[in-house]
Amino acid sequence: EKGGFEHFMMKEIHEQPKAARDTIGHYIVDEAINLSDISTQIAQLDGIEQIYIVACGSAYHVGIAAQYIIEDFAGVPVRVDLASEFRYRKPLLKKSDLVIVISQSGETADSLAALRLAVDQEIPTLAIVNVLGSSIAREAGDVLYTYAGPEIAVATTKAYSTQLLICYVLAVEWGLAKGRISDEEYHRLIKEIESLPAKMDRTLEDKERIQWFASKFANAHDMFFIGRGIDYAISMEGSLKMKEISYVHSEAYAAGELKHGTISLIEDGTLTVGILTQPDLYEKTISNMVEVKSRGGYIMGLTSYGNYNVEDTAHFTVYIPKTDPHFATSLAIIPLQLMGYYVSVSKGLDVDKPRNLAKSVTVE
Ligand code: F6R
Repeated sequence: EKGGFEHFMMKEIHEQPKAARDTIGHYIVDEAINLSDISTQIAQLDGIEQIYIVACGSAYHVGIAAQYIIEDFAGVPVRVDLASEFRYRKPLLKKSDLVIVISQSGETADSLAALRLAVDQEIPTLAIVNVLGSSIAREAGDVLYTYAGPEIAVATTKAYSTQLLICYVLAVEWGLAKGRISDEEYHRLIKEIESLPAKMDRTLEDKERIQWFASKFANAHDMFFIGRGIDYAISMEGSLKMKEISYVHSEAYAAGELKHGTISLIEDGTLTVGILTQPDLYEKTISNMVEVKSRGGYIMGLTSYGNYNVEDTAHFTVYIPKTDPHFATSLAIIPLQLMGYYVSVSKGLDVDKPRNLAKSVTVE
């Protein structure tokens, strides 16, 4: 049942290219985006002036990445909320808003309550869900399913990755609908999305090098993940993967925010992972990595092939294949999933069923 892997999580990490192919195959047909599963109003973002993305945990991190991409491509403001906050903060929703709820299980209590709040006010809703016929899928106005297949490990990997892909497809389609993306750019971006599964396969080939590196941090007390923009979204998910299965305290920080307090936590040898997939932000994040290094921090860089000058600052560097920077999360997350996995294995922990956690959080 684990397909020759020691844990479901590792099996599911390796299933990501296939899950991505299946999801892309559903929503990109004959080199065009196919959103025939949902209303044309939402598919074309007709009359929508503001988007809310509401979710918990890793699905919320997808929302953070999607925020940058949708705003960039479609030019529509996006606000991302934790479902547990959204449902109690009396959000000022308008009929011209779209509320997107992202959930693997489709049963997360807070996400479901957030969805109901929007549905009750007759606000257009769109769910991005993995489990067919789940509560969120049934109650949302429109649904786009991720085709990740069943996810068994508590820590999400392939569902997260397929949620991202749906956000890419939406952002590109909306960019075209709003006239902010040319036909030529639309086709280039579609090709780029279609090339991601093969690049995921290539990223997985680095597994042993990451295993070796991760095994050195089995006794770590703290870790930091830093980045700017989409790299900050990647940092959040990398940090959650680390803490939830390896029980190492870790935090994600917007790189520029470190010096406002957190940098005082850096001690000799504290691992800080600097994420650098966004070319226009490289230099800024590198300067923050230098600050951490000069206080004794141990630096891992995560960047795209070709960006070799990261090695001037990082003690250890992991490279991912080049892609459009908007889509880099799909590749950069893989080494971070592997890091969390291997630190957990090095500590002899129950990778698939970490303490205190449940796969589906049906109570608030
Ligand atoms: C982390 C993880 C959780 C879920 C969160 C939402 O690896 O799995 O953070 O992402 O509980 O669950 P769903 O997506 O089922 O609503």
